Amino acid sequence: MSLRVAILGASGYSGAELLRYLSLRRAISGDVEIAAVTASQRAGASVASVLPQFRQSAGSSLFADLPNGLPKFSRWQDVDWQSIDIAFCALPHGTTQEVITELWRYSSLRIIDLSADFRLSSFADYEHWYGKAHGAPQLQGEAVYGLSEHFRASIGKARLVANPGCYATAAQLALLPLAPLIDCSSISIDAKSGVTGAGRSLREEFLYCEINEDFRAYSLSGHRHVAEIEQGLELALGSSASSDSASSSASSSSSDQPRLRVSFVPHLVPMDRGILTTSYLRLRAGESVSSCLAAYDNSYSGSAFIEICRDGSVPSVKLLRGTNRCSLAIFADRRPGWIVVFSAIDNLGKGAAGMALQNMNLMLGLEEDYGFADTALVP
Ligand SMILES: NC(=O)c1ccc[n+]([C@@H]2O[C@H](COP(=O)([O-])OP(=O)(O)OC[C@H]3O[C@@H](n4cnc5c(N)ncnc54)[C@H](OP(=O)(O)O)[C@@H]3O)[C@@H](O)[C@H]2O)c1
Repeated sequence: MSLRVAILGASGYSGAELLRYLSLRRAISGDVEIAAVTASQRAGASVASVLPQFRQSAGSSLFADLPNGLPKFSRWQDVDWQSIDIAFCALPHGTTQEVITELWRYSSLRIIDLSADFRLSSFADYEHWYGKAHGAPQLQGEAVYGLSEHFRASIGKARLVANPGCYATAAQLALLPLAPLIDCSSISIDAKSGVTGAGRSLREEFLYCEINEDFRAYSLSGHRHVAEIEQGLELALGSSASSDSASSSASSSSSDQPRLRVSFVPHLVPMDRGILTTSYLRLRAGESVSSCLAAYDNSYSGSAFIEICRDGSVPSVKLLRGTNRCSLAIFADRRPGWIVVFSAIDNLGKGAAGMALQNMNLMLGLEEDYGFADTALVP
């Protein structure tokens, strides 16, 4: 029997990428039915009119079992939630806590939230970074942080998964296995993202003439994803508990312990997709590039979507376009005892829709790479 899936926010960039992945999944394994797609101002419109890339497939045999091909965009309030098995929420942060509170009463519904609304386990951190009190504190304890490769067991048992932020995904996949081997007070992360990372809504600073042929830093006073990175590193260092068991814990205040702080500087690059992080790290005494690579092998053996460059090559965002893969590399710095670590992903793939589907597989007890066609769109 097909799983009936709803995509909330399907007219946005992450939601549309989910639609693309789920369309491919229907072709590969045929086990999902796209039962509802929602939008806000575009509710009522056809998928083909809002996302012309689906003009052909909307009426094709891929959707032949659906009465009218893909459903029209509706408001999330108008979906027949009784009939839905899985909901992907790709809504702006701050809107999802209210939506998921409403959906929670459908007890067989499993939810994967791509927004930031349930990512931070500390309510104080949430309030600090998002400027308001958490709107669904009673549900935060249900949420499991969805960094698939590090929290598989907890994700497998969850009803609500909080997919990580795109920068936080790239940075944590590079850093979490290395946390015990490095001086965590030395971490500097230089991050670059393509423009889809900012979403599809119209804003002057993202107009073509503003970004084309430019390359600039932003959010120097603190990007919100840094909170997830620090939360992940603290867990990896064992300051709370082991990662899998602490992935859903919530607390109302920050601990009195001095908090780990990393330097994180994001940059906007005039490309559609892709994130590259370059991290500068000081090794603990006795550690080396070899021991760091061994830590990667230990963490990621059997991880279908992690590739570790060993031949002197460096991760390339272009070679990951449209995939759910993360490419990692470690090099010795010229300064003895320091290393440089690279991590690349597609922000809409591993940083959003791809990881969400990987998490769906884990929640359903399937192999995490089940139903993926993971060939990059090159050139
Ligand atoms: N873009 C990325 O690379 C990325 C990566 C990881 C996570 N995320 C997260 O995923 C979420 C979606 O991001 P995005 O970049 O895809 O955003 P987006 O392109 O701006 O799309 C937002 C979607 O939400 C709908 N929407 C807007 N306001 C709404 C409201 N009040 N109630 C219900 N629906 C509403 C929009 O509908 P209309 O089209 O009708 O306005 C659209 O479908 C965000 O929380 C973002 O932080 C994004």
